[in-house]
Amino acid sequence: MTATLLDGNALSTHLRTKLAGRVAALAARGVTPCLAVILVGEDPASAVYVRNKVAGCEKTGMRSIKDVYAPDVDPAVVFARIAELNADPAVHGILVQLPLPKHFDSEAVLEAIAPEKDVDGFHAENIGALMQGNPRFIPCTPYGVMKMLESANVPLKGAEAVIVGRSNIVGKPMAMLLLAQSCTVTVCHSQSKDLAFHTRRADILVAAVGRARMITGDMIKPGATVIDVGINRQADGKLCGDVDFESAKEVAGLITPVPGGVGPMTITMLLTNTIESAERTLK
Ligand code: GUN
Repeated sequence: MTATLLDGNALSTHLRTKLAGRVAALAARGVTPCLAVILVGEDPASAVYVRNKVAGCEKTGMRSIKDVYAPDVDPAVVFARIAELNADPAVHGILVQLPLPKHFDSEAVLEAIAPEKDVDGFHAENIGALMQGNPRFIPCTPYGVMKMLESANVPLKGAEAVIVGRSNIVGKPMAMLLLAQSCTVTVCHSQSKDLAFHTRRADILVAAVGRARMITGDMIKPGATVIDVGINRQADGKLCGDVDFESAKEVAGLITPVPGGVGPMTITMLLTNTIESAERTLK
C-alpha cells in the first residue's frame, strides 16, 4: 500500500470532542441542541443511518427526537409533523431521511422544513445561499469531505477536482464547495463519455455514485487524493465503497476507507450544523 489513509473516525472523534464543549457552553445558557429526525418506511440502510444520527446526538450531549412512519403513511401526516417541529423553539434541526416512498413529493417535503432549521442544507433557500458562496447550512456529506481535505492539508487552489455523481445530496454541493476553494471542477455522471479520461486527470477524486467498486486503480492519477462517498452493501453483508480500495490504495496518495471514512464525518457535520443552529438562536 502506498496511499495514506484519511481516517474519518479519528477526525470525527477529534471534532466531536470540540462539539461537546460547545454543547456544554449552550447548556450553561439553558439551551440543549435538539435534532428531530423523520424516517418514513422500512429501508434498512435508512434505518441504520437514522439510528447512527440519533446515537451521535446522545453521545455529544444533545437531544434528539425520532419519528418513524409506516411506508404508506399519508404525506399530510408528515407535513403536519414538520409544521409542529418548525414551530417548536426547543427544536433546532429537522431532518427528513431520504429517499422517501414514491407517493411523496420529496421536494415539497424539503421545502416544508423551516430554512433556519434545515440542518441538511437541502431547502432551496439554503442551496441558493450555497451557490452564492454565502452558505447558511452546508450539506453534511460534502461538508465532511471538505473538513477531511482541510485536516490533511490537501492543496485546493488550482487543483483538478473530479466528482463522479451529480446528486443534490453530494455531487452538486460538493462541486460548489470545491469551486469556492478555487479548484477546477469537473462533474461526471452516468452519461459521461470516457469516465476514466476524466478521473485520471484528478488531483482530487470524489466518488459518489452508489456503485460498488466502480473506480479502479487504473482510473486514478498517481498520488491523487481519493474520497469515497459510496456505502454499498455486498452479498456477504459487508460494506464497500464506490472505489475499489485494493487497487486504488496502490496508486492514490491519500484515500478514505469504507467504512470509517466519509460516513462518520457526515454525522459529525450534522451535529455541527444542529449546534450552530442552536447557537444562532442566542445571537
Ligand atoms: N440520505 C442519504 N444521505 C442523506 C443525508 O445526508 N440526509 C438525508 N436527510 N437523507 C439522506
